[in-house]
Amino acid sequence: MASAQAAVLNAVREPLSVEPLAVRDPRDGEVLVRLGASGVCHSDLHAITGDLPMPLPCVLGHEGAGVVEKVGAGVQRVKPKDHVVLNWVPFCGSCWYYVKAMTAEVFHRNGTSISQFAGIGSMAEFTVVAENACIPIDADVPLDRACLIGCGVMTGVGAVINTARVQPGQSVAVFGAGGVGLNVIQGAVLAGANPIIAIDLNERKLGFAKQFGATHTVNAGSTDPVSAVLDLTGMRGADYAFEVIGRPEVVTQAFMAIRRGGKAVVVGVPPATAMVSVPGMLLPLAEKSLVGSLYGSANMARDVPRLIDLYRAGKLKLDELITRRYKIAQVSEAFTAMEKGEVARGVITF
Ligand code: APR
Ligand code: ZN
Repeated sequence: MASAQAAVLNAVREPLSVEPLAVRDPRDGEVLVRLGASGVCHSDLHAITGDLPMPLPCVLGHEGAGVVEKVGAGVQRVKPKDHVVLNWVPFCGSCWYYVKAMTAEVFHRNGTSISQFAGIGSMAEFTVVAENACIPIDADVPLDRACLIGCGVMTGVGAVINTARVQPGQSVAVFGAGGVGLNVIQGAVLAGANPIIAIDLNERKLGFAKQFGATHTVNAGSTDPVSAVLDLTGMRGADYAFEVIGRPEVVTQAFMAIRRGGKAVVVGVPPATAMVSVPGMLLPLAEKSLVGSLYGSANMARDVPRLIDLYRAGKLKLDELITRRYKIAQVSEAFTAMEKGEVARGVITF
C-alpha cells in the first residue's frame, strides 16, 4: 500500500481537494506507476463542470507519464524502473483489464474507494493502471514533455494523420487553438497541409497557433470564421475542418466551413446532453461528412515511439506547449489559468 497526494473532484463545480490517499498494490496484470508529470487537459475541466460525467469522487488526470514502481503477477510489457507514457484507451483485446482498471478501486480515503479519471488518475503521486495502459519510452525523454503525448499531442496530431489522413497541399481549418488544437495545427504541418487556418477567440492562442505553423489566424470574436475560411480557400471551403473545443455551435461552423465533399472532424467533446445540428440537405447534396476522432485514432504502441522520434528530430514541438509548471498543491490554479486562456498547456510535475 502506497500513499499519494492526489487531486480529487468530490462534486461537480466544487473546489478540488488535494489530499493523501491510500493506493493499493498492483494485482494481476496491473502496474503501480510513480507519476513524473501530468498535463492539465480540458477533459478534466469538463469533468469539473459536469459536462463530462464521472463517478465521483474521482482522482483527475489522464495525460500522464512516470516510472514503473512495482508490477503485479503476470505483467510482461514493463518492469520496475521503466519509463512509461500512460494510455487511457488500452488496446489489443485487453477490455477485461480495462474494465477492471476502471472499477478496480485503486484509490481509497478512509476505506472508501475513489474513482480514477479514464482509468488513469494521473493527478496523483502514484497510480495503479492496467499493464496495457503503459507504453514504455526511453528514459532520456523528460517526463513533463512525454506526458503530453499521453493525451493532447496524440489526440491532435492523430486526428490529422490517422483519422483524416490529410494529404500534402490540402487545406485545413482548426477551430480552437488550445492544448489539443495546437497539436492539430502541428499535425497539419507534418502532413504538408496548406493553408492552415487557426480560429480562436483569444489573441494569445492565435499567437501560439502561428508559432505552431498556422499560415492564417482568425479571431472569431471579431470576424465570422466561416466567411473567413471561405475567403482563404477560393470560396470553396476547406478540405478538412477540425473542431477542437467541444462546443456544438462551433461543430456547426466547422461543417459550414468545409467544401463539397469535405470532412468536418470533431475532436472536442461537447457536453453530454448537447445535440449538434447541421443543415441536413448538405449531407447528400454537398456530400459533406461529419466524423468524430477519439485519441487521434491512435495505435499507441506504434504511435508514441513515432511521436517521440519526431520530437527528437525537431519536427514535433513539445517544449513550446508547456506555458507553466505547477505542483499538485497548485492544481486549482492550473485549471483557473486554463479557463482564463492563459496557457497552451499547464503541467503538474511531481
Ligand atoms: N470559437 C473559437 N475558439 C474558442 C471558442 C469559440 N467559440 N470557445 C473557446 N475557444 C478556444 C479557447 O480560447 C481555447 O484556446 O478553444 C480553446 C480550447 O482549448 P483548451 O481550453 O486548451 O482545451 P484543450 O485541452 O485543447 O481541449 C479542447 O478537446 O480533447 C478535447 O475534451 C477536450 O473538449 C476539449 C477539447
Ligand atoms: Zn485529454
